[in-house]
Amino acid sequence: DVPELVDRFGRVARDLRVSITEKCSLRCTYCMPAEGLPAIPQSRLLTAGEIVRLVRIAVRDLGVREVRFTGGEPLMRRDLEDIVAGCARAVPGTPLAMTTNAVGLEHRVQGLVDAGLTRVNISLDTVDRAHFAELTRRDRLPSVLAGIRAAARAGLTPLKVNAVLMPETLDGAADLLRWCLDEGVHLRFIEEMPLDADHAWARSSMVDARRLLEVLGERFDLTEAGREDPSAPAEEWLVDGGPATVGIIASVTRNFCADCDRTRLTAEGTVRSCLFSDSEIDLREALRSGASDAELGDLWRGAMWTKWAGHGINSAGFEPPQRSMGAIGG
Ligand code: GTP
Ligand code: 5AD
Ligand code: SF4
Repeated sequence: DVPELVDRFGRVARDLRVSITEKCSLRCTYCMPAEGLPAIPQSRLLTAGEIVRLVRIAVRDLGVREVRFTGGEPLMRRDLEDIVAGCARAVPGTPLAMTTNAVGLEHRVQGLVDAGLTRVNISLDTVDRAHFAELTRRDRLPSVLAGIRAAARAGLTPLKVNAVLMPETLDGAADLLRWCLDEGVHLRFIEEMPLDADHAWARSSMVDARRLLEVLGERFDLTEAGREDPSAPAEEWLVDGGPATVGIIASVTRNFCADCDRTRLTAEGTVRSCLFSDSEIDLREALRSGASDAELGDLWRGAMWTKWAGHGINSAGFEPPQRSMGAIGG
């Protein structure tokens, strides 16, 4: 009897992604400009307490079943542990995940597990140090690898690695898969979406799932295994007969918008119904001027009613959204 976050196409949002900062320790070319994003003034940023309140409303009143913290890079917030602990108390039993670049994760992972974090997905595009430095504009590969191992030791499983497909990393894709298989972590390749701050994305130069399968096929025997569940973004492929699989998130060439179950909260407290839709509904102002939980819930439901059928990347006249990935949170 929970009034859910339903959109005009009958989809129900169960998966909440909360961006908590625009800051990042890396500068991946497909996501951030070299100089980083303009800082959000402190007064516009949701506090830990405000995030916890909105997460409680989403889960208790709006039917959300899983919460994921993103950024920017969530580890850039020093009160991340407080946010996680507050949410764990507010919505006990709800999975609390994080998507992170893992820089410095090694030193904080135990505290995050103690606070109640249940899972992490880690962004890593290559295990070649020089390529990593070029792509992220920072020489931090050793810290990332240490972070991945620390997360696995801390029991944050299943651990998933996300790799965005770029022309520069295609040659190293098989090595990355080999590394992940050896470490026992699940790897998913992602088609790059037009969400880079520099608007350099072009459909013609994008590495698509087909090209990746050709490249991986030279070293591995891959057989199609389908999706884990209908709303999972990745299609899985058995590697050398299994049981290990590799996932491909073909957001552009085989989009999964029809089964989208996401709702997003930006670091400034606006609801964003789709990665690609810039029309956002502000909850922060309402929250700070005394709105009740019921009123905030109504605003949130209204925001989802504006959700589009899909991203439209492949249609003529497509325009990328104003916010780049670093300001939406993947
Ligand atoms: P799991 O619960 O572990 O499956 O997490 P997830 O895959 O939902 O989250 P993650 O942050 O790891 O996202 C993986 C990638 O999927 C992102 O990097 C995006 O490229 C892509 N992605 C995430 N959300 C969306 C979305 O709403 N739409 C589209 N088109 N792609 C998305
Ligand atoms: N296209 C697809 N995925 C992207 N990510 C960042 N930018 C893009 C993009 N332009 C991924 C990161 C991370 C997740 C949050 O989003 O690799 O895994
Ligand atoms: Fe959902 Fe929009 Fe992503 Fe499509 S592009 S899967 S509708 S958030």
